[in-house]
Amino acid sequence: MLNLITKRLIIKSHTLENLEKINEWFNDKELLYFEDDQEDIINPVTLDETQKFLENIINSQSDIKVINYAIHRKLETQLIGHGKITCIDYYNKRCKISITIGNKKNWGKGYAKETLIAIIEYCFKNLKLNRIGAEIFSFNKRSISLFESLNFNREGIIHQYVFKKGRFFDEYRYGLLISDWEKKKNHENLEGYRSFKNLYYKGGDLMITKNNSP
Ligand SMILES: CC(C)(COP(=O)(O)OP(=O)(O)OC[C@H]1O[C@@H](n2cnc3c(N)ncnc32)[C@H](O)[C@@H]1OP(=O)(O)O)[C@@H](O)C(=O)NCCC(=O)NCCS
Repeated sequence: MLNLITKRLIIKSHTLENLEKINEWFNDKELLYFEDDQEDIINPVTLDETQKFLENIINSQSDIKVINYAIHRKLETQLIGHGKITCIDYYNKRCKISITIGNKKNWGKGYAKETLIAIIEYCFKNLKLNRIGAEIFSFNKRSISLFESLNFNREGIIHQYVFKKGRFFDEYRYGLLISDWEKKKNHENLEGYRSFKNLYYKGGDLMITKNNSP
């Protein structure tokens, strides 16, 4: 069971209590524009389908290749987003990550960055991986700045990968190696990293609880 605690957030496994919000976000056109291959919702995702999706996730938490996570604000336990660690490959020590802050009122408050710092550390320290990948459409400026601010390198461009609003857009492939992450952590003193550096200290801002092994 995933359970990461940061300064303002709790990042943990899904429960069925998340059903309505997740269903709302699965049908949100603006979110899908940034995340999905389809521009328009052809078939809305029903509450039943989302429930099956969540039940599937909850019942397959021993799946070693995918970890879904829910992002809650610590203060009032409100669900604000969700994400996935996918394609986990322990032999080649790599995975991919993605994130959604579902409620747009919460954009620009640093929640995605705070979440990803914890998720990246979890991937490198707990899952003992060496490389994290991310795939981002070229028009998704917010996500590009987010991942680049975390030292992800743009390693490749898949040309004309998606068709949105009447034209083709590229997809960027990003990668973060553990060596680049360690360099970033050691040389920068950004707010998120500062709290993160206290990870292993008692009373630190960010803790990874003991039962986090896959
Ligand atoms: C992309 C997304 C996750 C960012 O979430 P967020 O909580 O707004 O991001 P944060 O507030 O943590 O900002 C983190 C970084 O994003 C960048 N950023 C934030 N607001 C931005 C804006 N308005 N324009 C450009 N970049 C911005 C900054 O680089 C910021 O880093 P900084 O604090 O060092 O300046 C969110 O907008 C989202 O869910 N979008 C829809 C789904 C999506 O695109 N997911 C990613 C698919 S790959």
